[in-house]
Amino acid sequence: MSRIAYVNGRYVPHSEASVHVEDRGFQFADGVYEVVAVYKGQLIDEAGHLDRLERSLSELQIAMPMARAALSQVLRRMVRLNLVRDGLVYFQVTRGVAPRDFPFPYAAMPTIVVTARSKTFPGRDVKPVMVITTRDQRWARRDIKTVGLLPAALAKQKAREAKAFEAWQVDDDGYVTEGASSNAWIVTKDNVIVTRQADHNILRGITRMALLEFARENGFRFEERAFTVEEAQNAREAFISSASTFVMPVWKIDEVAISNGEMGPVARTLRDAYFDAMEKLADQAKQGC
Ligand code: PDD
Repeated sequence: MSRIAYVNGRYVPHSEASVHVEDRGFQFADGVYEVVAVYKGQLIDEAGHLDRLERSLSELQIAMPMARAALSQVLRRMVRLNLVRDGLVYFQVTRGVAPRDFPFPYAAMPTIVVTARSKTFPGRDVKPVMVITTRDQRWARRDIKTVGLLPAALAKQKAREAKAFEAWQVDDDGYVTEGASSNAWIVTKDNVIVTRQADHNILRGITRMALLEFARENGFRFEERAFTVEEAQNAREAFISSASTFVMPVWKIDEVAISNGEMGPVARTLRDAYFDAMEKLADQAKQGC
């Protein structure tokens, strides 16, 4: 099966899909993106991701490239055309094509690209992963999901070289902000779930919001606050969350083991809850509601 990409209103073979050399996404990283998981053919947390896309765009004064309902149709069509049962849909929106100049162009149409690919997600039972820590070198508006991902790519490369799964970003005061492409969580010795407050220093993860909602509804104790690397290394549990990992338990942080290599009870409960919600969505879709 050949893959299909969506570029500015056209469904084209993935191998031929392209954007203009003077697209501001390419020249200035002047654009934003979203990643949505597909589980059993359903887009997971679609509304949250579209809300965040609208917010990221409005913070940068870029117009939505099309009406939200139309974009939603494109995402669904891309899932079908690429025969994605489980996988990820990526969409990038940039300020568009204009002669190279730093200020915003007076007239440019936003560029939109959508791609979809299959991915086999690990099931409910998952082996904890290792994370390293690295200095957070990103800009001051990490709440905007920009395509300017060079610091994240450098951090991920460092993680790969250390045979780790993720790189936790550490701010100048020694506090963890988040992972290079995920939110960071710990569970303290007295069973309080802690994740950093969602201000300009982190991306307001859609998975993070779903997990906090679950914690709230189920009477878990949680705090939205910053924690240090040392506190994390002494925690009862640690895990990460994102659209591509859901909830992924952490085994070691910079070589310090925080568990016996098995998933902790809180991570397990939250991962199960996320899978339950995805299954429910898939069942509802099957029954046509
Ligand atoms: N990354 N923080 C950062 C810096 C991220 O890039 C991501 C997502 C998250 C988690 O957000 P969410 O739960 O909405 O996926 C937090 C995606 C998956 C990526 O770039 O591949």
